[in-house]
Amino acid sequence: MKTVTCTAPVNIAVIKYWGKRDTSLILPTNDSLSVTLSQDILHSKTTISASETFTSDRLWLNGKEEDITKNKRMHNCFRETRALRAAFEEEERRHGREVAPLSTWKVHVCSENNFPTAAGLASSASGLAALVFTLAKLFDLSTNMSYLSRIARQGSGSACRSLFGGFVAWEMGSEADGSDSLAVQVAPESHWPDLQALICVVSDAKKGTSSTEGMQNTVKTSPLLQHRIKEVVPARMKQMKQAILDRDFETFANLTMQDSNQFHAVCLDTLPPIFYLNDTSRAIIKLVHEYNNASPDGKLRAAYTFDAGPNAVIYAPKEHMKEIIQLVAHYFPGAADGSYFADPYRILQSNEALGA
Ligand code: ADP
Ligand code: DP6
Ligand code: CO
Repeated sequence: MKTVTCTAPVNIAVIKYWGKRDTSLILPTNDSLSVTLSQDILHSKTTISASETFTSDRLWLNGKEEDITKNKRMHNCFRETRALRAAFEEEERRHGREVAPLSTWKVHVCSENNFPTAAGLASSASGLAALVFTLAKLFDLSTNMSYLSRIARQGSGSACRSLFGGFVAWEMGSEADGSDSLAVQVAPESHWPDLQALICVVSDAKKGTSSTEGMQNTVKTSPLLQHRIKEVVPARMKQMKQAILDRDFETFANLTMQDSNQFHAVCLDTLPPIFYLNDTSRAIIKLVHEYNNASPDGKLRAAYTFDAGPNAVIYAPKEHMKEIIQLVAHYFPGAADGSYFADPYRILQSNEALGA
């Protein structure tokens, strides 16, 4: 038996991925770009054991066993990493070296998220990135991160971006086999230390519509999505990359808020409409705009973004974060309507790569 444990961070997109052109390979309808958050605050921690005595691949998520017999995405990750391991074993044996036949053993996966699962805080991103990274370590693969990102992508699209720290683009690619649909680091975590993120947990409840199901209904029914993927995102990706390279918070903030709003507009344009934001989410949007309007030098001081759920992530320069936390605490003092903010407020100060 062999056992390995690794952790992987969450990433929160500032240009959102929403829509697949190929649902089995998980190929997206547009490029996307995200910030990887510090994993000492939010992470998935995954332990995987392989043993010749195990009779099936099994998963325990947050202490409870999940039935993964029909989970095609997890099996994609098992299949791809096992194929790499099998090639490695063959090579070792060809050189006369002894190697454990791990590629033929079943695995038991035990994973914990230290934040709400399936609540729009990117648990599928950290969870599936942790799965693939841990499998790669378990199997002693020397595969590079770009290649691993192609495997993680087949577990959950957003997971491919969690294999890198800092600012990460997922290039949609154009090949039918997905070979060029992978994550690329735009800038490392050290590039913009002044940028911080505040996670506001509005609700830790599981969302009503999963990202996977929601985005395919959008692809089927939303005319606005066609405009977004053809006209809006390609231009925004260029502007966003430049804003990050220039550490231009003004442009970064405007694009981030606009893209979050357009993503939620596309959800509303879906039939039947998908409502991820709630009254508290909308009140946070209003608060951030009022805070920006009151800026003494007229410059933006904060930007919100919401994934597929009601929870807000506020990006801001370090100098304003203390005040933003005070404002949030003042206007949203605690439990109301089943909503709450996590205590303590989570400020993410740095981004790190994966931890083995
Ligand atoms: P989120 O907004 O949290 O990413 P999704 O609807 O995209 O929500 O995905 C949630 C699903 O991701 C979970 O129901 C589970 O199947 C999978 N998932 C989440 N965390 C993990 C994990 N640590 N290991 C394996 N799978 C996970
Ligand atoms: C709104 O990666 O969770 O968070 O590929 O079906 O697993 P699947 O979906 P997922 O979708 C994430 C959507 C988003 C935007 C983003 O992270 O880019
Ligand atoms: Co997800």
